Amino acid sequence: MRISIIGAGYVGLVTAVALATKGHNIIVIDVDNIKVDAINRGESPIWEEGLDELLLNCVRDDGSLKASSDYGEILDSDVTLICVDTISKSDGSLNLSNIEDSVKGIGTVLSKKRDYHVVVTRSTVIPGTTRNLIVPLLGKYSGKQVGSELGVAVNPEFMQEGKALQTSSHPDRIIIGEYDRKAGDMVRGIYDDISVPILRTDITTAEMIKSASNAFLTTKISFINEIGNICQKLGIDVYTVAKGMGFDHRIGDQFLNAGVGFGGSCLPKDLKALLFTSVNDLSYRPRLLEAVYDVNRDQAMRMIELAEQKLGNLANKRISILGLAFKPNTADIRVAPAIEIIRRLLEKGALIAAYDPEAMLDARRILPQARYCDSAIEAVSDSDCVLVLTEWNEFRDESLYHGKVVIDGRRILIPERAKAFCDYQGICW
Ligand code: UGA
Repeated sequence: MRISIIGAGYVGLVTAVALATKGHNIIVIDVDNIKVDAINRGESPIWEEGLDELLLNCVRDDGSLKASSDYGEILDSDVTLICVDTISKSDGSLNLSNIEDSVKGIGTVLSKKRDYHVVVTRSTVIPGTTRNLIVPLLGKYSGKQVGSELGVAVNPEFMQEGKALQTSSHPDRIIIGEYDRKAGDMVRGIYDDISVPILRTDITTAEMIKSASNAFLTTKISFINEIGNICQKLGIDVYTVAKGMGFDHRIGDQFLNAGVGFGGSCLPKDLKALLFTSVNDLSYRPRLLEAVYDVNRDQAMRMIELAEQKLGNLANKRISILGLAFKPNTADIRVAPAIEIIRRLLEKGALIAAYDPEAMLDARRILPQARYCDSAIEAVSDSDCVLVLTEWNEFRDESLYHGKVVIDGRRILIPERAKAFCDYQGICW
């Protein structure tokens, strides 16, 4: 199938490479010429294990993927996937200007197309966005009858950063929300070779499946963190509790890793957006989801409370930060717990020495007051207290921590062993 993808961010680029690898012809369209040029050279603008090699292969060897900044290229495709970023506004609602701009661009180009074409929402949006915003805009700018001359569908992405290619190519399920049956059939055709459950729904239900899935994942994390905080007071290990709970298939053993909380560009943003819409547009206060959000915010700050319990006043104390990315195997620091923790430590006058194997570039830019080190060993030397905030494998090396005060936010060490060689404290164990 010939597929155009709008947006060369995480979702767009990973989707593009995953679909090109399956034999589809992909054109990625992005307004950023630097990204477009990089992709056409076979260089990925984002860091993700294995992505560079596959991208190069698609661009150079089989020519199944190319990039352009010209929306006119949409005319050479049958389906267009909208994969642009939506970012949080300060009130928690989503800034949809990238979606609006791209839909206007797509509509304008499609006004020149005679054949049927399908436009698909793949970016995560609040339920109702496709029906209330995208469909009317497409109709207005294309001059076509949406639902007959122009098809619309919603096909949410469930990939996880750090294992993006694997989770995009081998998803647990495929959700297809269809405005018109023909649009659903065409999106179904993209996944002909994948044998996972496929659920076809209306467009708003598909959007809600994505929002609710992310909200449920955040609920699991805040739940286990809260249980962990209780367990700590009772002298019980929350990881053993989670293991015991996880054998129950109704509960499952995933997303029950207690720690410093969730971050990233998706879970916090999507949770806030659902909260905002519910309270402001639907006059319903989702108390459970509010608590999920509050528990997560407070959990990160527990690292600072624990450091204060160990060191007293943190002014002029040398605090080592191991891990800046919101999770391992990514360079992404968006809404990473480490960033807010460092900000608060700096406000308290602490001296920060930080290290992350991949995420130093962006951290340096937004928090220049911290000192960035070339290695974990350098970051922990002469330290008053080490905070472990991302579970990179290299931080499992016990020799880093000998004789130090260590506050573990990610269960990087085995507590019973660690207590023998350092002053060890887990965030909730
Ligand atoms: C998340 C969802 O997991 C994906 O299914 C979804 O497609 C994606 O958002 C999206 O909406 O695009 P991602 O942001 O890549 O994926 O990250 P996760 O792997 O979900 O991790 C999010 C955060 O939760 C990380 O900070 C991680 O450290 C934390 N986490 C995760 C925990 O603290 N405990 C856990 O047990 C699991």
